[in-house]
Amino acid sequence: MARNRNLTSAFVRQDIEEYIYGLLPKRDAVLREMEAYAAKNRVPIIGPAVARLLALLVRISGAERIFEMGSAIGYSTIWLARAAGPRGEVFYSDGDPENAQRARRSFQKAGVAHRIHVGVGDALKILKRTRGAFDLIFIDVDKHQYPAALRAALPKLRRGGLLVADNTLWHGRAPHPAKDAATRAIQKFNRAVFAHPRLDTSMISLRDGVTISRKL
Ligand SMILES: C[S@@+](CC[C@H](N)C(=O)[O-])C[C@H]1O[C@@H](n2cnc3c(N)ncnc32)[C@H](O)[C@@H]1O
Repeated sequence: MARNRNLTSAFVRQDIEEYIYGLLPKRDAVLREMEAYAAKNRVPIIGPAVARLLALLVRISGAERIFEMGSAIGYSTIWLARAAGPRGEVFYSDGDPENAQRARRSFQKAGVAHRIHVGVGDALKILKRTRGAFDLIFIDVDKHQYPAALRAALPKLRRGGLLVADNTLWHGRAPHPAKDAATRAIQKFNRAVFAHPRLDTSMISLRDGVTISRKL
């Protein structure tokens, strides 16, 4: 599991990652099947270590209305929906209709389909046109879009709500001068969330880096 390239960082010591993944409780059959599918087909899911952090943040904060930007096959969506509980409502968004089809089947199997709204198309546009504020917004779209995703997410996040972004260390490239669009966008995003007067932000170097902000 830990050496599955899809689930680990390129920079955390192997023994540390194996230790963390070794401690994680076994997932149920639906999540295990999705992890295996993602590994085989190189779908870049967050994996169980970051998923547990995400679920914990949902439970600690009591988040019930959640928007996910970039949901792929719905692995992280299921963790969010389960953590949000029976009154929870999670908005899935992905640009790929095949991903959405696969995700829908997994939501049924996981028993959470009734709590999830599936949106196919540009996550930033779907978020903008979805009415109401969110308790938690999770950003996991293509990395060059992170600054635009931040601009789209902030007005839709309620005061006290959480903004969580994955891959914010971007394979260990974030600390170094970079020319590629993805790394530069991640760097811009990280600077923006730490400097923003209405965000209280912290970063965790779990897997590929997770940034967590609370809207003041
Ligand atoms: C890293 S994967 C998401 C993984 C998912 N959050 C999980 O952990 O299970 C990123 C997904 O975002 C989608 N994507 C990228 N940019 C997008 C955008 N602007 N709008 C909608 N989907 C987007 C891609 O199709 C891809 O499936």
